[in-house]
Amino acid sequence: MKTMSTNFLTLGIETSCDDTAVAVLKNDGEVLAEFLSSQIKDHARFGGVVPEFAARKHLENILPLIDVTLEKAGITGKDLSLIAVTQGPGLMGSLLVGVGTALALSQAWDVPVIGVNHIEGHMFAPMIEASLEPPFLSLIASGGHTEIIKADSFGKYAMLGVTRDDAAGEAYDKAAKLLGLPYPGGPEIDKLAREGNPFAFEFPIPMKNTPQVEFSFSGLKTALLWQVKKLKDSGQELPVNDLCASFQRAVTEALVAKVSLAVRLTGIKNVTASGGVAANSALRRALSEGRWNTYLPSPSRCTDNAVMIALAGRYAWVRGVRNQDGLAPDPSLELPLTI
Ligand code: KG4
Ligand code: ZN
Repeated sequence: MKTMSTNFLTLGIETSCDDTAVAVLKNDGEVLAEFLSSQIKDHARFGGVVPEFAARKHLENILPLIDVTLEKAGITGKDLSLIAVTQGPGLMGSLLVGVGTALALSQAWDVPVIGVNHIEGHMFAPMIEASLEPPFLSLIASGGHTEIIKADSFGKYAMLGVTRDDAAGEAYDKAAKLLGLPYPGGPEIDKLAREGNPFAFEFPIPMKNTPQVEFSFSGLKTALLWQVKKLKDSGQELPVNDLCASFQRAVTEALVAKVSLAVRLTGIKNVTASGGVAANSALRRALSEGRWNTYLPSPSRCTDNAVMIALAGRYAWVRGVRNQDGLAPDPSLELPLTI
């Protein structure tokens, strides 16, 4: 087994959903190489991710992607210190490809492997570009998750609140479908909203004034559905840009209201956000208004990527986590919580 050196090289592998992503990280932050093969175009024609198809695409892509990533980093597999792979949560078939590949390469190259929780990976995304020490609050808003987590220290987390139904990204994707926009909906709505009036329609802002850190987005989606129906029934052309801008305002206000509540409840002023929805321009603006110390990853590091998995894996390894024996994909893997 390799010892810790000043050239600690971590290979990150992320295959939890529809992106095959690989990266090589040197020590705590220097990205030597990074490649991502997105399946968005493959799944767009189905209007969402088809799990079986995603797994097959990962299988086709993963080894060539690892080859080019190592080549670009100027290293061979045997130079690695650690392989960090997403263990869950995610799609079973997709996770199986990543974990199976990581375990096989670990044997072939005699390099240890560590399984990483995908959500913890997202929590580390802001630290790729900025140094940040706990305690901090982390808003994770993606296609499958919407939650606020308190990090007391690395590896010691408390879940402050989650969504009761849809995730914020899921709400964006469903709203886009309703408006006849392509998948994934978030980036598309974000783009069209720039040309629209966020106050054109008054959508309900879910849970805005409840005293708990909690989210709900299914009612908002229904409100949009009714609004669209009303406009269509009256024979009007859909003001898509205004609908996008107003919908985006409601999602943003719902998320920011709960970040604000979490700050008040905990007294912690270091706030991070990650997950695909953290790439949203309105949310980024609202979180950066100066009420807190906000740490946002660049938009491409908000969505799924392998650098965040490498970094979370490297930190976990350094604090003594060893989970290689019996490592298996877990589609509903929970974040280790202390509260
Ligand atoms: O974190 P991510 O890449 O994958 C999951 O782990 O789910 O997040 C994908 C989600 C999708 O629902 C997508 O529509 C949303 O993030 N998303 C956005 C934006 N970019 C991606 N939502 C709002 N605005 C964006 N700019
Ligand atoms: Zn994700």
